[in-house]
Amino acid sequence: MKIKRTWIINGEKLEAEVPPMRRFLDVLREDLQLKGTKEGCGEGECGACTVIVNGETVLSCLLAAGQVPDGATVTTVEGLEKTLGGKVLQAAYIEKGAAQCGFCIPGMIVSSYALLSRNPTTDAAQIREAHAGNICRCTGYDKIVEAIQSAAEQWPVEAKG
Ligand code: FES
Ligand code: FES
Repeated sequence: MKIKRTWIINGEKLEAEVPPMRRFLDVLREDLQLKGTKEGCGEGECGACTVIVNGETVLSCLLAAGQVPDGATVTTVEGLEKTLGGKVLQAAYIEKGAAQCGFCIPGMIVSSYALLSRNPTTDAAQIREAHAGNICRCTGYDKIVEAIQSAAEQWPVEAKG
């Protein structure tokens, strides 16, 4: 059995016909060819697969396609390039040298975007807490936190809320 869904993904209306238990991560990467979202552990432990659904960060490896409601708004890392806040974050991550191998970065930066959209006056402790589910094996996190603080200082008014 398949279900039909229409989702607004990165600002575009996309239709999908998928088995309801198919992982949303696979729908994004394989069916919709949005390869920016990564699979690390596939078990909800690493955060590499983080996307935003209706304003909330979710782990797409643990989400079934049938759990994403018809009409849902979805933002993946590809969508951040289209936003002012996403551009500010990308530049800050680069400027602060916050990425090494880069595998965690799509999920990490999606979490950063969700946090700053909710609260651009966030402090280092809140940043660490909001990214607790995003595991990075390379950087030691300090440069990532610096990048997010730098982005918060420049956060565009249009990207707030
Ligand atoms: S791939 Fe989803 S949490 Fe690791
Ligand atoms: S930069 Fe390599 S896992 Fe984070």
